Amino acid sequence: MEKILLQLRVNGETRQVAVPPNKLLLDVLREDLGLTGSKRGCDDSSCGCCAVLIDGTPMLSCVALAASYVGAEILTVEGLAPPGELHPVQEGFAVSGGAQCGYCTPGFLITTKALLDRNPHPTLEEIREALSSNLCRCTGYMQIYESVRLALERWAQAPRAAGARPSAAEGRD
Ligand code: FES
Ligand code: FES
Repeated sequence: MEKILLQLRVNGETRQVAVPPNKLLLDVLREDLGLTGSKRGCDDSSCGCCAVLIDGTPMLSCVALAASYVGAEILTVEGLAPPGELHPVQEGFAVSGGAQCGYCTPGFLITTKALLDRNPHPTLEEIREALSSNLCRCTGYMQIYESVRLALERWAQAPRAAGARPSAAEGRD
């Protein structure tokens, strides 16, 4: 099949790829850009392992045509924190045992980041609701919810970055 040239904004960089017009974003990320953090965990859009943020909103990259997202800001798990650093959400999952085999973890991290960006003080019910499209076959979900709770604490304690993080003084519900 003939290829088309796409310029994609991924993790704050402009990346150019030559791909078939019907290539899925997940495959472009993994095969053309070497960003293998996003995973394919199912074949029916049900697991959330492939979630990425597109203009801040979680999307399933396994059903998204890459060509549809030229000009959008795409964030994958690799872009959550600068090299050598951890995002507070990653810290929460690492400390609280929210990851076992880790296959589902990138999707959970991305979805959790989107939740905290729009609601820095979610209730347990809101956390459950936000993560309801992400499936994990290893952990008890309570460990994942605990990871999010810890991420909230780390998020509140972290220096404010571009207005994205609440200060500790804002407190939590
Ligand atoms: S790979 Fe399962 S929802 Fe995308
Ligand atoms: S940690 Fe293994 S599937 Fe979630």
